[in-house]
Amino acid sequence: MAEKDGRRWNHNIHHHPRILRAIPHGAQRALDIGCGEGMLARELRRTVPQVTGIDLDGPSIDQARGYPDDVDYILGDVLTHPFEPASFDVITSVAALHHMDAAAALGRMRDLLHPGGVLALVGIARSTMPGAALPPPGSGLAAIAAVVT
Ligand SMILES: C[S@@+](CC[C@H](N)C(=O)[O-])C[C@H]1O[C@@H](n2cnc3c(N)ncnc32)[C@H](O)[C@@H]1O
Repeated sequence: MAEKDGRRWNHNIHHHPRILRAIPHGAQRALDIGCGEGMLARELRRTVPQVTGIDLDGPSIDQARGYPDDVDYILGDVLTHPFEPASFDVITSVAALHHMDAAAALGRMRDLLHPGGVLALVGIARSTMPGAALPPPGSGLAAIAAVVT
């Protein structure tokens, strides 16, 4: 496992501090989409009282549920899970958007976000998109980090 300054590190974890800084003051409910084994959800929980993580992958959700926290981990598809509309003050998603139909997923995030809430999204897109960054030239991939309020 890669480490930086004695802590676990990868290109996804690299973005966590910026995401955490974007949490709106007083946020009560957060959703992490494509939460994997829940590292970002647990970090969100330090500030936000109710945190939900959702992921399609059973082993990842099993691993997330193995941590001693009160995050609500859901095994499911964010596009179809029956969440209440506009029920989250902050929605995060790291490296998951490219697994979904982007228009459907972004529309879903908009519908689940409370008006005035924050969407903090780290996506991977083709290098023809503006903001091409981390992956090597010629890989056809680029990282884009965005915080939208
Ligand atoms: C590359 S992993 C990133 C995991 C984690 N966010 C991280 O940074 O390590 C993408 C995750 O998105 C999940 N995923 C893909 N489509 C999904 C969907 N429609 N609903 C929920 N999770 C989804 C996958 O199962 C996978 O765990």
